[in-house]
Formats: sequence, C-alpha cells, structure tokens
Amino acid sequence: MAVFNLLLVVFPFFCLSITSFAADTIRVNQSIRDGENETLISANGAFELGFFSPQLSSNRYIGIWYKKISPKKVVWVANRNNPINDTNGELLLAEQGNLILMNATKGTVWSTNSPSLATNPTAQLLDTGNLVVQGNGNGNVVWQSFDYPTDTFLPGMKLGINLVTGMNRKLTTWTSINDPSLGDYTFEIDPDGLPEFFLENDSVMVYRTGYWNGITFSGIIFLGPNPVFTIDFVSNEKEIYLIYELKNNSVLYRMGVTPDGTIERFICDDPARGWRPYLNVMTDTCDQYKICGAYGSCNIKNSPVCSCMKGFVPKDTNDWEKADWLHGCVRKVPLSCERGEDFLEYPGIKLPDSRKAWYDRTIDLKQCKNRCLRNCSCTAFANLDVRDGGSGCILWFGDLIDIREYEENGQTIYVRMAASEIEAFKLSKGNKRLMIIIPITTCGGIFGICLGIFLIMRMKKLNKKGSTQEDLEEQEDNNERGKGDLEVPLFDFQTISIATNNFSLQNKLGQGGFGAVYKGIFENGQEIAVKRLSKKSGQGIDEFKNEVLCISKLQHRNLVKLLGCCIEPHERLVIYEFMPNKSLDSFIFDERQRILLDWPKRFQIINGIARGLLYLHQDSRLRIIHRDLKASNILLNYEMTPKISDFGLARSFGEDEIEANTTRVVGTYGYMSPEYAIDGLFSIKSDVFSFGVLVLEIITGKRNRGFSHPDHKFNLLGHAWKLLNEGRSLELIDEKVRSSSEISQVLRSIQVGLLCVQQCPKDRPDMATAVLMLSSDNVPSLPQPKEPGYFATRIVHHNSDPSSSTNLSPPSNSLSITFPGPR
Ligand SMILES: *[C@@H]1O[C@H](CO)[C@@H](O)[C@H](O)[C@H]1NC(C)=O
Ligand SMILES: *[C@@H]1O[C@H](CO)[C@@H](O)[C@H](O)[C@H]1NC(C)=O
Ligand SMILES: *[C@@H]1O[C@H](CO)[C@@H](O)[C@H](O)[C@H]1NC(C)=O
Ligand SMILES: *[C@@H]1O[C@H](CO)[C@@H](O)[C@H](O)[C@H]1NC(C)=O
Ligand SMILES: *[C@@H]1O[C@H](CO)[C@@H](O)[C@H](O)[C@H]1NC(C)=O
Ligand SMILES: *[C@@H]1O[C@H](CO)[C@@H](O)[C@H](O)[C@H]1NC(C)=O
Ligand SMILES: *[C@@H]1O[C@H](CO)[C@@H](O)[C@H](O)[C@H]1NC(C)=O
Repeated sequence: MAVFNLLLVVFPFFCLSITSFAADTIRVNQSIRDGENETLISANGAFELGFFSPQLSSNRYIGIWYKKISPKKVVWVANRNNPINDTNGELLLAEQGNLILMNATKGTVWSTNSPSLATNPTAQLLDTGNLVVQGNGNGNVVWQSFDYPTDTFLPGMKLGINLVTGMNRKLTTWTSINDPSLGDYTFEIDPDGLPEFFLENDSVMVYRTGYWNGITFSGIIFLGPNPVFTIDFVSNEKEIYLIYELKNNSVLYRMGVTPDGTIERFICDDPARGWRPYLNVMTDTCDQYKICGAYGSCNIKNSPVCSCMKGFVPKDTNDWEKADWLHGCVRKVPLSCERGEDFLEYPGIKLPDSRKAWYDRTIDLKQCKNRCLRNCSCTAFANLDVRDGGSGCILWFGDLIDIREYEENGQTIYVRMAASEIEAFKLSKGNKRLMIIIPITTCGGIFGICLGIFLIMRMKKLNKKGSTQEDLEEQEDNNERGKGDLEVPLFDFQTISIATNNFSLQNKLGQGGFGAVYKGIFENGQEIAVKRLSKKSGQGIDEFKNEVLCISKLQHRNLVKLLGCCIEPHERLVIYEFMPNKSLDSFIFDERQRILLDWPKRFQIINGIARGLLYLHQDSRLRIIHRDLKASNILLNYEMTPKISDFGLARSFGEDEIEANTTRVVGTYGYMSPEYAIDGLFSIKSDVFSFGVLVLEIITGKRNRGFSHPDHKFNLLGHAWKLLNEGRSLELIDEKVRSSSEISQVLRSIQVGLLCVQQCPKDRPDMATAVLMLSSDNVPSLPQPKEPGYFATRIVHHNSDPSSSTNLSPPSNSLSITFPGPR
C-alpha cells in the first residue's frame, strides 16, 4: 500500500486508472477505504469489491461487481439497508475475523457478525465473486458473501435452505435501481411438500418454478440441459438447494430478480459486448401464479388463455366470462369415493402447486395410481422424476392449482374423476373411433384411384409452378391429408426453391424474428417474397395450416397480402406479394433516400400504418397483436402505400420455440414497450407503444435505438418529450422534409406519437383513438403526454444492425433508467 500511495503522489495523472490496490485479500487490521478509492480485485480480474453509489444516488455501499463488463452490474451489496452518506466509509477486517463497515465517526454501519471466530483471519475475494473470511489459511470459512445473496444468483452459489442451521439463502430485489435496500420481491425455496422456488411480492405469490423433475423445474421447461451451464438440485435431510456451474468459464452468466419482479438471466461471452438476455424465466401471462384458479388450465395459444380441465366447469360462470378466472373451476360430478372412479390423463402440462403434495421416490406409476385410489382425498398423481421414462410418485390432495399447458416437454398428470364421468369419456371416445372407421374403409376401397389422382395433381402442380385454387380444392377432395377447408394456396417446396434460386444469399432480402426472407420470381414473372421459418417450430402441420389460413383471411390495404404457404416436414414457408420499394427504414434512415419521402407522404404513411394496426387489433376476426412493429416491417408498394408485414406470425409461431433460441427474442429493442421488454407482458398497448416509436422515427428520420444528442442522454422519446415541453417540437422534424411540412399535422403527429409511448399502458390510446387523434384538427384537445416509457438511454453502438430483431444486445440498464426529466 505504501508503494501505491507513493505512486499516487508522484504520478497524479496516471493514477486515475490505477487507483485501486490490486489485491484480492485483506488481513487483520487492514481496511478498504472509500476516500482512497481502494478496492479488492479477484485473482482472475473478473470481480471487484469496493464502495459504489447506484445511479442517481450519492449513498455509498460496499458491493461486488464485474470488473471487466460495463455498465457496472453490482451482484452483491453488504450494507443494503444502511448506506453511508459520505465517502469516509471504511471496511475493516477486525481481529477474530469480523468484517466491519465503519462510517466517518467509526460507528459500525454493518458487520458480518461471524458466529465462529477465526485466528489470523483473511478476507479474500474469490474468482467466483464470493467474498470469504477464513481463519489461518486452513480453509475454515467463518463467513462468505455467497451465504447472504442480494438479488443475484451466481454460478457456484447455493440457493436454498440449510435444514440443520436454518440458513435460508434467497434473493431479495433492490427497492429500485437507485436503491439497493430490501425490495418487495423475494425468490426463495419453500421446503414443504415437494420443494419449489417461489417468487413473491411481499408474501403474495407471483410465480412458482414447479418442482425439480430430475432435469429441470417443471415450470421452466428450457432450464434443462444447455450449452452454458450444468445445473443441479440437491434435496436431502440436511439441505435443499439449487446450484449451477458454468461449462466454459470464459462465458459468464448470471440470474437475478429486478426491482419489478422480473426473473432475468443474462449471458456474456465477450466483455466488450456486455450482457445480453438469455431465455427469460417468466415469459407470459400463463406464468402468473394461479391465473386460472383451481382446476383451470392456462394455454397461451388460446383466447382467452384460461379454460377448465375436462370434466370441470367454471365455478362462477359470470366472472369467468368476464375473464375473471380467480374462482377457478369445479367438477361437473363431485367425487364420492365410490367404485369405478378412475383417472383422466393430461399430458404436456406444468404440474400443479406441490407444496401440499406427498411423494415417494421408490414406487412406480402403477403403485402410485393404487396409492391414490386407496385414499379418498387424493385428487391426482404423476411421475416424480421424468428421467429414464419416469419413476417415483407424487400425489396431490385437494384442489389442483396453477396448471398451464406447454407445446412441448410438459409433464403428464392423472386426475381423478367420478365413475359416471369416466363412463362418459369412454363413450365419447368410442363414438369418435366409430366415426373414423367409416371414412377409412370407404377411402381404402378407392385408395388406388386416390393415389393416382394425387400423383397427377402433383405433376400438374409442378408444371404450373404454384397451384391454383381449383387445384387445391380438387386435391383436397382426394388427398387424404386434406381437411377440405384449406383456402390458402399451397406451393410445393421445389417450386419455391427454384423461384428463389435455391434460397441463395443473393436473393435474401433480410432476416426477421421468425426466419429469413427471400425474393423469388415465378416462371410467369410474378415476383414474390418468401419467408422461411426457422426449422425448429414445434408446431404441428395442422396448426400451422390453420394459422396461415387465418392470416390469409386478413385483408386490408395496409397489410401485406399473403399468397400462400408451403408445408413440408422440415420446412414452413410463407409466401407474400413482393414489395418493390422495400421497407420504410430504407427510406427514412437513409441519407440519400430520405428526401424521396416528403411530409405529405410521411403523414400518409403514418395514417396507413395506424389503420392497418387498427384493423389487426380491432376489426379483424382474429384480434392480432403484432409484437414486432418496426420500420423494417413496414413495406412500401409503388405508390408508397405502407403495408404491415409479419403480422400473425407471432401467433402462429410458438413462443416457447422462439424463447428457446438464445439469439432470437420476439420484438426489437427500441420498439418494445417497457412492460413487454421487462415483464414479457404484451397486449395491444405494446403494439401502440411500438407505433408511437415508429411515428417519432418517421417524423425525425432518426432511429430511437442508438439515438444520441450532445446536450443530454435521452433517447429519441425523451428528446421529443423534452422539446415538446420546451415548446420546440418543430425542431424535431427531419430537415429534409421541413419545407414540405404542414405544421399542424406535424405537431399533432408528435403529440400522438408521445401519447402512444407512455410508460403506463393505460395512458396510451388504443388504435381507434390514435387514428381519430391523427385526423382531428384540434391539437389542444389532445391530452398532454406524460413522460414516456424508458426515455433515457446509455449511448452504446453495437456492431449489429440496430433494427434487427435478431442478435439483440441486452436492454440491461437502458430499459429501466428513469430520469427526473424536464418539468
Ligand atoms: C490490530 O489492532 C489491534 C488494536 O489496535 C491490536 O491490538 C492488534 O495487535 C492488531 N493485530 C495485528 C495482527 O496487527
Ligand atoms: C477517487 O475517485 C474519484 C472519482 O474518480 C476522484 O475524484 C478522486 O480524486 C479519487 N480519490 C483519490 C484519493 O484517488
Ligand atoms: C450524514 O449523516 C450524518 C448523521 O446522520 C449527518 O450528521 C450528516 O449531516 C450527513 N451528511 C450529509 C452530507 O448529508
Ligand atoms: C456513524 O454510525 C453511528 C452508528 O450507526 C451513528 O450513530 C452515527 O450518527 C454515524 N455518523 C455519521 C457521521 O454518519
Ligand atoms: C469457451 O468460450 C470461448 C469464447 O466463447 C471460446 O473461444 C472457447 O473455445 C470456449 N472453450 C471451450 C472449451 O469450449
Ligand atoms: C407488490 O404488490 C403490491 C400490492 O399488491 C403493489 O402495490 C406493488 O406495486 C407490487 N410491487 C411491485 C414492485 O410491483
Ligand atoms: C389420505 O392422505 C392424507 C394426506 O396424506 C392423510 O392425512 C390421510 O390420513 C389419508 N387417508 C387415508 C384413509 O389413508
């Protein structure tokens, strides 16, 4: 230290970068002083411990953060509830191994209060980010920061409970990003029944992970085997905990809970690029604890999401119809524990709350069933462990709560039903079988003819390159695959392959959230755009057809027209009309092209998008939420009429599959509403938010993402709001179109844009209102916008295309910073 002090005196200019003393250990009577900017740095240089202040706060805390990755992410805080208000703090290792944080007057602000004493102790910051106090170098750990997690779960940490000592290692959120004191949310294990982790807001259950099924938690289906870490859940008489280790130490990973209760997971494979999100844990409405009540089942693909399980009806039909599902469902026929009661099988679900469940690892499913039958209050059973075809037994007593359906990888539960219900189900199944038999025999007789016609049709189709409506109808009549109701033209893969020059790179137009888009030309000269969906879709062919069929029925002059689709076992293609003028971003953000869009055209485009979106949200039969509205998804035809593309695909394409691919997250930062980006909650109002961003981008010709201004650190939204408050809105408009602009229209559009990007979804207008506002001539009658959702941003320039939905870099702090802003 003396050496360093000397350095400080001699080279005051160089010191700014080397002011910390680069050691990882302090000994007795040594300390880390805030005023001297002293810190500990782990041996591998990954972690640093020292004093810090959160953003927008001058309070001082002792914390541990990643040294090499900016912005600074603090993973542990010592004195979270007792900040020091000046820079005179000092962390001292006292005799017997007590770490003490003292303020200016040497009063103790925080201390480790180690229960056991250590001789000749040291405090060392390990490469894992764990601060360890141990005695005499004998590995006798008397205290470690990993035993007192704050809001971050690091590799090597045990999250869970020690049943012997009672120590409960749990995560507790910060109060806000500016205040690390104990927040509302906790994430901890409940050791009752089968242990599960729960996220609670002040003791109110928000989410549960489900129990450990040997591979993963049944409510986090994609936590299982993965390339980044190995995970293990240990449960014995002494301890119950979750632990994970990184497979490759040069890839960093962390999990945590944000002040608003989002369980976030981040990965970093290159410190220079910073953190990027890695598979959210809670992703949608169905993850909300108990959203459908008892015996209700949540399926994110359905609308409404909740339905009663087979054999159950809503307890309160009125409430249920009003989408108030809290009261759940009840049996049509109550159980009476008579003979003949049996079980109905539900595959593919997140198993219900198991805190009151009973389990036995040793018995098999058959014994499990018998055990359940013998006890009249047993309502359901399932396999405990899903590995090797399943083993063990879990029994539920009482209501089944918090069930959701998954597309893939869900588990199977067997639910007890009354004898009469079982009879009814057997009957209805029998009937179905009967109905299937008849057509099959008939068709079997003419199978030869069917096949012949089918082959002829196929050849005809090949020759014509793209089948017509009549073809399809004929084909449907004869083709056993056909359902007879498909109105959307089916193309065969080879035709499309030829048209797109075998999906060559030269033909590639771009890459969207669901797959790449190629330009193609049929032999007759018709130009098409082909979206090739990622191969990993877990969706069945029939569901896919259904979705495409639905989308094909959506017709509006501001939506791109669907021409057809192509379905092969491993290929899903969607074929659209080709838009020669490409997308809006190639105009408004391009130095040379922007001049081509004068104000009247821009205003017409804004209105067109608004009407297209209104149609999707309200007027179409499907009520579609687009979820990825952005300039590159607005295509332009010869007359510069805007056409929304990519609509309906979010619905057609499974959310899980998208989430399962780390590089693809639906939505694009810069356009995502706060509640969607942070909570994964999407609604028509998230589209409204994206629309607002789009409006401001069209007016200014600047991207929201990556926007920077020399005078402040607001993003485009913040900038627009600032100028509006200062009465300088007109400065926003792209100087290339200023001369052609009509001031009242510009002002109105800015105001509508800002109203659409309000922080709180209910403050945003719906699209019907937005369309009205845009055409109303009376600006003062519009409501005054409040501050927009996350309008401040750090200025980072990523290598990747800022508007691409793939390759997202982390929202990290750019999402949640709120600045006081102009009043
Ligand atoms: C630490 O400081 C205390 C009080 O000043 C002193 O009694 C003790 O000997 C010191 N211990 C060591 C190891 O320097
Ligand atoms: C500590 O760091 C702060 C901020 O970087 C600087 O202003 C201050 O001069 C430094 N103090 C010492 C003693 O180096
Ligand atoms: C810090 O806290 C002390 C004790 O509460 C108080 O006397 C002092 O004025 C505070 N200092 C500042 C800068 O607020
Ligand atoms: C230092 O801490 C002690 C004990 O917590 C407290 O009584 C005192 O006011 C604090 N002093 C300052 C300057 O904060
Ligand atoms: C670990 O990750 C780095 C960076 O991604 C990579 O270069 C390296 O090959 C990986 N090592 C192993 C053993 O996989
Ligand atoms: C936690 O729940 C309370 C009561 O329902 C609510 O007022 C509060 O906003 C919630 N906390 C957060 C951070 O959402
Ligand atoms: C059924 O199981 C419950 C819960 O384990 C238990 O309390 C009850 O005694 C059992 N009843 C019978 C008849 O075994």
